[in-house]
Amino acid sequence: MKISTRVNHPPAVAVPVDNRPLVAPIYQSVKFTFDDVAESERQSRGQREGFQYSRVSNPTLQQLSLTLAQLQGRDGCLLTSSGVAAVNLALLSLCKQGDHVILFAEMYQPTRYMIRRLLARYGVTHTMLSIEDTVGIEQTLAEKPTRLVIFETPSNPVLKVADIQAITAAAKRHGALTVLDNTFAGFHNHGQFDIDVFVHSLTKYASGHGDVMGGAVIARREITDRMRQDFIVLGATLDPHTAFLIQRGLKTYALRYERQCANALAVAQFLEAHPGVAGVSYPWLSSHPQYQLARAQMLDGGAIVSVELKERAVAPASFANALELFAISASVGSTESLVQPGQLMRPRDLNEAEQGWAAVSDRTMRLSVGIEDVEDLIADLGRALASPL
Ligand SMILES: Cc1ncc(COP(=O)(O)O)c(C=O)c1O
Repeated sequence: MKISTRVNHPPAVAVPVDNRPLVAPIYQSVKFTFDDVAESERQSRGQREGFQYSRVSNPTLQQLSLTLAQLQGRDGCLLTSSGVAAVNLALLSLCKQGDHVILFAEMYQPTRYMIRRLLARYGVTHTMLSIEDTVGIEQTLAEKPTRLVIFETPSNPVLKVADIQAITAAAKRHGALTVLDNTFAGFHNHGQFDIDVFVHSLTKYASGHGDVMGGAVIARREITDRMRQDFIVLGATLDPHTAFLIQRGLKTYALRYERQCANALAVAQFLEAHPGVAGVSYPWLSSHPQYQLARAQMLDGGAIVSVELKERAVAPASFANALELFAISASVGSTESLVQPGQLMRPRDLNEAEQGWAAVSDRTMRLSVGIEDVEDLIADLGRALASPL
């Protein structure tokens, strides 16, 4: 064989079945081959196990899917190239023309855009409420046949806590599905509730290091099986190398999240007692309006703290600029601490009443608390709060 043939047909290395690598390898191959046409056909008809093409499935993706489904307490998972792609897959796959969706002003802005602008073009109608309006949810469900209720808890960025039991019970009574974007609370939370579909951005706590993007739709297998053909054709799948990095990041998920939550609680307590702060929202602070609910339905308070700076105490931009350990950044869930000032989070697509529900002002600061030493973080916040007006 000539060299050009040889390099394209290298010797295969067989790993004995009783001699596996401790870390699963990355299957960085788009195509998988069978020795026999009939077997290839049987696989494509679902009559045997195996893989053909990585947009459909790949062993590295399958391993991550199984891991995430288990963490969230379900048995089906579809992986997407970003969190937004997971939200979009769930919405596109579950809705059809003429359906009605309930969403909330306190949601991630691209989710609102997807429903209010994009799905609207395809004949899906919606009602947008405040996540605190449990009466409005019940009333809307009673008045309008509704396909699904999509919500987040704790909400971004002011961390309102939704009553999951009340929302799922109302949705079930009226035959609507529930979709929970569980990115902020994480896989270890909320699995006990009768949620039909979870969506996650893996860009945050799952990968954990702020270096890759990904998303997941997690549900009972019968639901993800029904979505699978749409998923394959929409094409926003995850790359195997990214899936490998997320799988690696997950090994420290519990350690990171535990440390981040402990740091966040200490940061929240420090800020609440500071004279330069008008208010702090953190689900596990006893001053949080839904403290009892948050204690009952979450295993921890999360790693995000929302702070309202006092007027005439510190200028919001000076505060953010003065922080040395909190990087000014969109997104959350890195090992480093991050700050996002209200002026960069203002929900400009909302009217005045809806902006009131979203409750983001120029004095709001969202802190994504990292795994640094908490005394250093508190000292940094103290210094920044003392910066001149
Ligand atoms: C609650 C929530 N859902 C979804 C997303 C989208 O995730 P991604 O940036 O991975 O597309 C984000 C991103 O910030 C988010 O905060």
